[in-house]
Amino acid sequence: MEFGCVSAGCPNHWIRYGKYCYLFVTRYPMEWIDAMTFCKTYGAILAEVKSSSVNTFLRHEARRLTGIFWLGGSDMFIERSWKWMSSNTRFYYSTWGHGEPNDSGGEHCVQLHSSFNYAWNDAKCQNRFNFICQKAA
Ligand code: BGC
Ligand code: CA
Repeated sequence: MEFGCVSAGCPNHWIRYGKYCYLFVTRYPMEWIDAMTFCKTYGAILAEVKSSSVNTFLRHEARRLTGIFWLGGSDMFIERSWKWMSSNTRFYYSTWGHGEPNDSGGEHCVQLHSSFNYAWNDAKCQNRFNFICQKAA
């Protein structure tokens, strides 16, 4: 539970960083597409990481909570063309784990992965993981 100015301007359970509120969902691991729909229900998107400062904040929280978390990036339409899906924008900032993205057996969705000290991994979109929703504060 977060209190006070940390989450000012955010709904209960969401935590604030910069202009955005983030919800770390750990109780209902979902396929990437279902996680996206879940976030949409709250007027949110799957988290999009466009700077190292946001990445540092998210990985710190993810590490604290433990587990693996979907982000809102995918190359499901064009292989190796990684996009933030809410706006169809190419990655400018990225922080892939060593050897990633490796498309191991067909992997088209981005996650913060504990094995890479919470750098990014591409994983199979149809596998179930925790996830992070994002919306404007
Ligand atoms: C993951 C892959 C990843 C690999 C790295 C596997 O468990 O499914 O996405 O590239 O680990 O070793
Ligand atoms: Ca991978």
